[in-house]
Amino acid sequence: MKIIITGGAGFIGSHLTRKLLEENHEVYVIDCLHPYYSLERKKKQLQTIGFLRSDQFTSLDLLNREETISFFQSISPDAVIHLAALPGVAYSIEKPLEYVDYDIKATINVLEACGRSNAGQLIFASSSSVYGNQEGPLKEEMATGEVISPYAASKYSAESFCHVYRQLYGFDTKILRFFTVYGPWVRPDMAIGIFLKKLLKKQSITLFGEDRVRDFTYIDDIIDGIYLALTKLNFSEVINLGSGNPISMLSLLNELKWYFPEIDMRKEHSRAGDVVQTWADISKAEKLLGYRPKVSFRMGLSETVKWANEHEAFL
Ligand SMILES: NC(=O)c1ccc[n+]([C@@H]2O[C@H](COP(=O)([O-])OP(=O)(O)OC[C@H]3O[C@@H](n4cnc5c(N)ncnc54)[C@H](O)[C@@H]3O)[C@@H](O)[C@H]2O)c1
Repeated sequence: MKIIITGGAGFIGSHLTRKLLEENHEVYVIDCLHPYYSLERKKKQLQTIGFLRSDQFTSLDLLNREETISFFQSISPDAVIHLAALPGVAYSIEKPLEYVDYDIKATINVLEACGRSNAGQLIFASSSSVYGNQEGPLKEEMATGEVISPYAASKYSAESFCHVYRQLYGFDTKILRFFTVYGPWVRPDMAIGIFLKKLLKKQSITLFGEDRVRDFTYIDDIIDGIYLALTKLNFSEVINLGSGNPISMLSLLNELKWYFPEIDMRKEHSRAGDVVQTWADISKAEKLLGYRPKVSFRMGLSETVKWANEHEAFL
């Protein structure tokens, strides 16, 4: 398949690009190397992909509508996997308008470009945050738009635009809602990334909301889910990709104590925008995709700690 991946230099995008190349797809990566986190880190993530011809990476900001459309037309992709976005709940509260740009407007440009280049399908990276503050297990139909952060509002809105452009142009839209992804190259602004950096430096860590619960999902399982949606599903759907195994922040710290017995921790109240709990109902992914998360939290964390030890300079 000829596939465009947006955000291919990011955490999930670099793992996905590597997988698609291994499966012998013709892959074209777009990324503007946004400075949300370090440029060095994004360049290194690109290197981990392995061999990518120079014409397979394009530095392009998707906010540039005309360039985006003409790039897509020059490729005529069979599929587009749209991962590019400004992530992060906390920063979205500081800079909500940037999320309207990077998470909504850029998505509209990608959708228009899919339509005008006759792409067969679009996979959109959405998020568990669209469920707002509800008790799990969270089923796909439970998202109502009643969310608690600008990031979540932008993702929910971008999902609506996917429905609009499916109607306008007729390509399949596969909206995948990822639940807290971790693993080697975990994003440096996420709890596991922040904790590992501090623990390796023997600094104290701050736990915001010890009662918070997250459905931590290992990167390889997310990549499997995206690949199954790309290759096995031939209609539009909204599907959760999670582990279905919620873990409290306190349990995360207890697991980390196996590797860092002397954790110095400060507890704080949870931060605005953070939901109390995420817990994916993955029965739709199991039924439609044959998706089965394979990596236990203990095993995934062990791989992540091993990676952090070997790449401390990039944390
Ligand atoms: N990591 C998670 O736990 C998680 C959970 C739910 C949803 N998601 C979603 O999955 C996607 C990938 O997340 P990630 O963790 O890999 O984030 P990331 O920040 O590592 O990757 C996103 C990439 O998109 C690029 N980008 C941003 N705006 C762009 C633009 N206008 N033009 C071109 N490139 C642009 C960035 O430079 C970055 O490399 C995002 O849409 C995110 O919202 C991630």
